[in-house]
Amino acid sequence: MKVAAFLPNDYTKNVASGNVTWKSPSNIALIKYWGKKEDQIPQNPSISFTLEACATTTKLSYKKHDQPQNDFSFDLFFEGTQKDDFKPKINTFLKRVEQYLPFLKDYHFTIETSNSFPHSSGIASSASGMSALALCLMSLEKELNPKISQEDFNRKASFLARLGSGSASRSIEGDIIVWGQHANTIGSSDLFGIKYPYGVHEVFKKYHDTILLVDKGEKQVSSTVGHDLMYNHPFAQQRFVQAHENLTKIQSVLADGDLKEFIAIVESEALTLHAMMMTSSPYFILMKPNTLEIINRIWKFRETSGTHVCFTLDAGANVHVLYPENEKDTVYPFIQKELLKFCQNEHHICDQIGFGAKKL
Ligand code: PMV
Repeated sequence: MKVAAFLPNDYTKNVASGNVTWKSPSNIALIKYWGKKEDQIPQNPSISFTLEACATTTKLSYKKHDQPQNDFSFDLFFEGTQKDDFKPKINTFLKRVEQYLPFLKDYHFTIETSNSFPHSSGIASSASGMSALALCLMSLEKELNPKISQEDFNRKASFLARLGSGSASRSIEGDIIVWGQHANTIGSSDLFGIKYPYGVHEVFKKYHDTILLVDKGEKQVSSTVGHDLMYNHPFAQQRFVQAHENLTKIQSVLADGDLKEFIAIVESEALTLHAMMMTSSPYFILMKPNTLEIINRIWKFRETSGTHVCFTLDAGANVHVLYPENEKDTVYPFIQKELLKFCQNEHHICDQIGFGAKKL
């Protein structure tokens, strides 16, 4: 599929005003996207679990101008307060998607957005935030062109969300999403995320992600800076090849429910992401001492308990603790007893695999 497929057909309706609200989840990558080409094209494919509890709710109100304007016109409210400092990011996003949504300058928008997770918890809100906004804009496009199919709607929402934040392309649907062209994944594309197209073992139907908030501060390295560090990175090419290979490997793991191999791939991906940042120029260590302490305790507990608890990391110090539903009664008490003391004020979020964004 080519980019031109996302240019709209003629709009058949006139819409003067209205509003729409979407609740869109975050997601956690098992195989990580780190490094991109121009236009938010990923250097390698990634796969993620869509989450359920960590979500952004965005209400988009729109009112048509009497005359089309030269600039985008919008107000932005975050958790009830006008937030002009968030506007440049939205402005950049609108510029990127304008050619695919040519009505944008015809309207004044009010964007009211809030997160289910606390602000500055160190949880990235770009995936849920950008996907929620992309879905709202798609709902307006659907009003202008009601003929758009559900499949095209989701695909274009993911395409637009990607232009806001790469990982946001994986937050439209659930429960397992692949984004990025991969030879062994039918239908995969660099332009948008797709639902994982193959069979998945029962054990992955309900999977828990308890997010341990080790460090709630601002991210030390923004995604933009982080992705840029993969240009001229001495190990980048090898890493991109590895991600393709890992995506092939995880397919049989997802089919067979081989949790031992699942753990090996997922933890290696997390550590590789951090290794890339430790070996870039400039270099960064994004883990904190408590991150390492948690990882060591997970390893020890896994060995002694015979469970399949494992961890993954984003580009920060927080730890995502992953475990299957049938081990919840053993693993969650362990988290409470042994891991929460390494979180800021014992702060954590109990999340699990989810099924995608919802229109409210
Ligand atoms: O979507 P971005 O540009 O914020 O990148 C996110 C990258 C990671 O979260 C570190 C990995 C991933 O695949 O989600």
